Amino acid sequence: KLQPVLLSGGSGTRLWPLSREAYPKQFLALAGDRTMLQDTWRRVAPLAAGAPIVVANEEHRFLAAEQLRLLGVERADILLEPAGRNTAPAIAAAALQAMAGGDDPLLLVLPSDHVVRDEDGFRAAVHTAAPAAMEGALVTFGIVPDAPETGFGYIQAGEGGGVRPVLRFVEKPDAATAASYLQAGGYYWNSGMFLFRASRYLDELGRFRPDILAAVRRAFDAATRDGDFIRLDRDAFSASPSDSIDYAVMEKTADARVLPVDIGWNDVGSWSALWAVSEQDEHGNARHGDVIAVDSRNSYAYARRLVALVGVDDLVVVETDDAVLVAHKDRVQQVKDVVAQLKAGQ
Ligand code: GDD
Ligand code: MG
Repeated sequence: KLQPVLLSGGSGTRLWPLSREAYPKQFLALAGDRTMLQDTWRRVAPLAAGAPIVVANEEHRFLAAEQLRLLGVERADILLEPAGRNTAPAIAAAALQAMAGGDDPLLLVLPSDHVVRDEDGFRAAVHTAAPAAMEGALVTFGIVPDAPETGFGYIQAGEGGGVRPVLRFVEKPDAATAASYLQAGGYYWNSGMFLFRASRYLDELGRFRPDILAAVRRAFDAATRDGDFIRLDRDAFSASPSDSIDYAVMEKTADARVLPVDIGWNDVGSWSALWAVSEQDEHGNARHGDVIAVDSRNSYAYARRLVALVGVDDLVVVETDDAVLVAHKDRVQQVKDVVAQLKAGQ
């Protein structure tokens, strides 16, 4: 049995205009009937020793609490950040919470905005990884890369079956480096899901980023509880440097391990990724809502009102109450530039 930690503090700007600051993608039902946070919990609930630990922004506390409640979760420890400081501090707060009762459980750290098609395969992989994690390894789950994506961490795995040593962990390399890794072979994408003992993470964070650990400890020690909500101290947490677990710990630790998995994983980071995991008609169109497609192929449309596509290929159309996105499916990474422009104009 282990302690799931659901990271729920991202803002998902590349899925604008559906994903908004006030309502980011993990709280949306983008790839099915349930929200991504709900799917994440359902996937791990059978493995969990007890209540989930969720780390989210203060602003999203009711979304997180309500969505878990709707799944029948009676109790959760929802750690609230006054402001996002990326995943290294968020996971540190979760580790301190997990150890507060005097235990040192295995933490299964999960982004709450990924799709995993093969849920049994995923749970089997966690079982396979558990013994190494019990012995002190920081285990991540590796995905066979199929493109030189620059938005992922790359892991060069050592020889062996099962849980393998990590020879090198490189977070978000540039395009040329990513391409050279693909060419070389033997590299996996970091899925962003981790398994380790709470104390091991805190030890390694303390070794490489004592400043982050100290700030989060202060924030946790001065936290206040309000039902399921645990409010981290505003000033102390805000004083933490911002960094991801990947840069702060995984690139540096000598105890990283990787378990390659084939579980239908997708991080649904963009509209084209969402198109790829959505149900498609015989022309490759994924349609969400009231959408008519005539002579159109390989397009994605999300509609609140009626939307019609005529004679277009590889298009993304997303229509909401207050915004419409029309983008080429190969250019959807640039949707974040729209959000940047909107922010700059505020
Ligand atoms: N609570 C909290 N606070 N959660 C956060 C914060 C924060 O400040 N920042 C990010 N998260 C959550 C996001 O909601 C997401 O579920 C998860 O942590 C990972 O953050 P992302 O911002 O989505 O990271 P990434 O996609 O750029 O990179 C990570 O994931 C890749 C796989 O999808 C890295 O781990 C890469 O190495 C990895 O390949
Ligand atoms: Mg991500």
